[in-house]
Amino acid sequence: MKRGKEYIVFPLDVDNADAAKRLVERLCGHVGMFKVGLELFIRTGPALVQWIKDQAAAGIFLDLKLHDIPATVERAMRGIAELAVDLTTVHCGESQTMLSAAVKGSQGKVKVLGVTVLTSVSGADLKAAGYPDAVAADVTALVFHKATMAKTAGCAGVVCSGHEAAAIKTKLGKAFLTVTPGIRPAWSEGKKDDQQRVMTPAQAVALGADYLVIGRPIRDAADPVEAARRIAEEIEQGAMPRA
Ligand code: C5P
Repeated sequence: MKRGKEYIVFPLDVDNADAAKRLVERLCGHVGMFKVGLELFIRTGPALVQWIKDQAAAGIFLDLKLHDIPATVERAMRGIAELAVDLTTVHCGESQTMLSAAVKGSQGKVKVLGVTVLTSVSGADLKAAGYPDAVAADVTALVFHKATMAKTAGCAGVVCSGHEAAAIKTKLGKAFLTVTPGIRPAWSEGKKDDQQRVMTPAQAVALGADYLVIGRPIRDAADPVEAARRIAEEIEQGAMPRA
């Protein structure tokens, strides 16, 4: 059975290798995976990914959110596959062909997640970008549509809000991964930072989330290790999932 800490993906949202290494050393053994995003990867590159692999008994989520012509995405994904990370991302965007190219480039060596609609994007943003009113008025329907594109292309899952995880599992199957940011433990409720629609770790797992991206509630806690431990405990007590 998956342990509580294995659900936790801790984002290394810092801009240099030393700060990232300190966080990895501190939290290793208390979270299931470390997420390396664009900010850190642009500054530290594959060397830091390799360092984490060598040092930490934890997975790596290389969150580069690719979005380009299919040939470029396929070749970029081949490079990511060589890094032997566990999860990576491509925007669902507008092209099924691009998503299929991403999956082809991954060669089955890394799980590809489709980014549906960024949680920072509102209906008003979609309207301003030229989407029809009916689409802009129902962002959730667009998320489901893009999740279906990702599944059809052979992606392993999607990044989505916890509020959409259950419906995506129902529509696209239990094995289709849902990775959810916007998580706030009960004891940090009221501190949402810039996240709009938050939920607790146990709620997200009960709704079917496979991995929870949890950054500031751990990083900014007085004792980050204790915060991660409490979150893992809350997951185990609150919602051990469907087998
Ligand atoms: O828990 P916290 O809000 O600090 O998490 C921030 C992290 O969540 C960042 O690394 C950000 O990239 C990630 N995130 C994401 N997808 C979203 C929103 C946030 O991966 N839709």
